[in-house]
Amino acid sequence: MALSDRGQYWCKMSDELLIWKIVKDLWDPDVNPNGYLMHYINEKIQFPGSALTYGDGAGGQRFLRQAFARSLNRHFKPMKRIDAEHICITNGVSSAVEHLSNLLADPGDVFLLGQPYFGGFLNSIGLRTGTQVVPVSFGDVDPLSKAAVEVYETAIKTSIARSQKVAGLVLCNPHNPLGRCYPKETLKGLMQLCGKYNVHFISDEIYAMSVFNPNELKSEVPSHGSCEGFTSLCAIEPSDLIDPSLVHIVYGLSKDFGANGLRIGCIISQNNAKLHQALVPPIVYSYASSISELIAAKVLGNDQFTDWYIAENRLRLKQRYTEVVRWADYHQVEYRKDVQAAFFLWVNFGAVFRRTKMGEAMLQANESDSMDLDNLIQQALLAGKVFLISGSNCGHDSPGWFRIVFSQARRDLDEGLRRTETALGLPRDPHLA
Ligand SMILES: Cc1ncc(COP(=O)(O)O)c(C=O)c1O
Repeated sequence: MALSDRGQYWCKMSDELLIWKIVKDLWDPDVNPNGYLMHYINEKIQFPGSALTYGDGAGGQRFLRQAFARSLNRHFKPMKRIDAEHICITNGVSSAVEHLSNLLADPGDVFLLGQPYFGGFLNSIGLRTGTQVVPVSFGDVDPLSKAAVEVYETAIKTSIARSQKVAGLVLCNPHNPLGRCYPKETLKGLMQLCGKYNVHFISDEIYAMSVFNPNELKSEVPSHGSCEGFTSLCAIEPSDLIDPSLVHIVYGLSKDFGANGLRIGCIISQNNAKLHQALVPPIVYSYASSISELIAAKVLGNDQFTDWYIAENRLRLKQRYTEVVRWADYHQVEYRKDVQAAFFLWVNFGAVFRRTKMGEAMLQANESDSMDLDNLIQQALLAGKVFLISGSNCGHDSPGWFRIVFSQARRDLDEGLRRTETALGLPRDPHLA
């Protein structure tokens, strides 16, 4: 039977969503059975009968919203205390972003998204809502700098000139794929800009607690729970800059707690009661499991455990970062050096690919073909059983850039780097385990 036009379009699209093919064929799919979080969950949680019910509402049970509020107040240092009423629980941050797109914009309205961006935003914002993304290109301007504010303003003006209604600006802080935190001054400038044009400001802070200082030589990381180097949007006084009802944050446990299978995310909007009211009908379609809610509340409600977990996570991220950077230096692969958060190294494989015999041969064979450099390198990597997000997946301007995720266990990271060497025709780094 024929699908709807939308069904047929999504059918075609699904072919391009490589990630869902890749996860079906992982090299070593065992999730670390001895992981700290799993150990804590197995030790601390006995599920009551209520775990099999709808709980007290689709937007999240009160005990979880309270636990989130408590944790976010400790870590995000908000200007105004976050209360349970400011929070709506969703089954992951992707859903949270989609809800905001749906409720803050009408079909045809646009959201600005700076390049490079997390590719998943394109579908979260636009797949089912009818809203559109306008990618913002920065040229030589650092996309996280204060100077970027002007570039966003030009993009707003251009959209207006094209009769597009700008509904909002979406950013990811700390940044995916660049692994950096936005300076406070840039955030203030963007708040003011959104205020000036009366557009919503959505900050995805899913990596907020994965901030580390690569230059710190001490192996100790402060364990008091603050996210040093990271400024949440709620930590900036909005009143002189923007109507506070336009400010929204999304957060979740998928990254900082390595628990994307729990499917727990949330919308934090502190000054927009209407938004929370409007979420009531659609939120049933992103209902988080009551079992996941109990687990999440048990984790977030234990300050001692979360502080320790976050500190340990930061320390390990720093160790892996050091390892992957050493590897890149060994191969003289160019990379963005200012990483301080999340788990990405943004590398330029374009130049090395042109240098190697294998790359040269592939480029020559492809001369008459139209496959672009990113695609060519990605094909080589996939043939070597390595999957890396390419710059073109992130709307990056110049070709050859890829995002290495370095947060795996040392064994897995080394295996991935070794396969990358083979796939791109690089010499062997003898330091890999
Ligand atoms: C910036 C950002 N937002 C959202 C998500 C998706 O989060 P979730 O698994 O909670 O839907 C990701 C996953 O990579 C991400 O990097």
